[in-house]
Amino acid sequence: AEVVIVENEAAAGVLIAQSIRGLIESRPDAVLGLATGSTPIPVYQALAASFAADPLDVSRVRGFALDEYVGLPFGHPESYRQVITREVVEPLGLTAANIHVPDGSLATIEHAGLDYEQAILEAGGVDVQILGIGRTGHLGFNEPGSSFGSLTRVKTLTEKTRVDNARFFDSPEQVPMHCITQGLGTILRARHLVLLAFGAGKADAIAAAVEGPMTASQPGSAIQLHPHVTVVVDAAAASKLV
Ligand code: F6R
Repeated sequence: AEVVIVENEAAAGVLIAQSIRGLIESRPDAVLGLATGSTPIPVYQALAASFAADPLDVSRVRGFALDEYVGLPFGHPESYRQVITREVVEPLGLTAANIHVPDGSLATIEHAGLDYEQAILEAGGVDVQILGIGRTGHLGFNEPGSSFGSLTRVKTLTEKTRVDNARFFDSPEQVPMHCITQGLGTILRARHLVLLAFGAGKADAIAAAVEGPMTASQPGSAIQLHPHVTVVVDAAAASKLV
């Protein structure tokens, strides 16, 4: 992987936003792989600022989110469908119908993974996948033990991840037990991976992802199988790299 150490999150946001803007300029129906969580927010903010300063037709841009909670009521503010709408679709002025999020509703969960894989294939695959990483080393919600070949499916969240994500809910018990997530195999099919991490809390996960060993107990290490990975980190997240 190419590792880029930036001054701060805002600088990372500007850097990646420039690259995504360039992609959309050359390919107006580009397919973006979208992450949720705190990490990618500076990217979305920098993109929104860029489009405000110098408008670009993004009406044909397509997007696929990495993951979704299973079983939250439709329209729950912390469902990733709502988060993506609020933090990405609206501020960037994307076309809502072009933006896909795995369907975490119980009624359709049995075929939701296959349906999502099909939709990604029909879109021609993801051009650039934005990724954060969990303290457990997860990419998407592929917790330790996820197969490198896995595709979109239902997973159980680890206790550590539920505790980490409790900040978005009123209480830790409200964090769903299950999620539906693109698999590591799905993620590896994207043509370019951009993995972002900030802060000392991510240093172990970044070192394990970038420098290995490659193992399912560190799902982030799957990036070593990919030919085009850019890792953008601040000094604290880079601090355990050799
Ligand atoms: C988000 C996702 C997760 C997060 C990871 C880091 O769609 O799939 O892998 O990227 O949990 O979360 P933050 O960025 O909140 O530290």
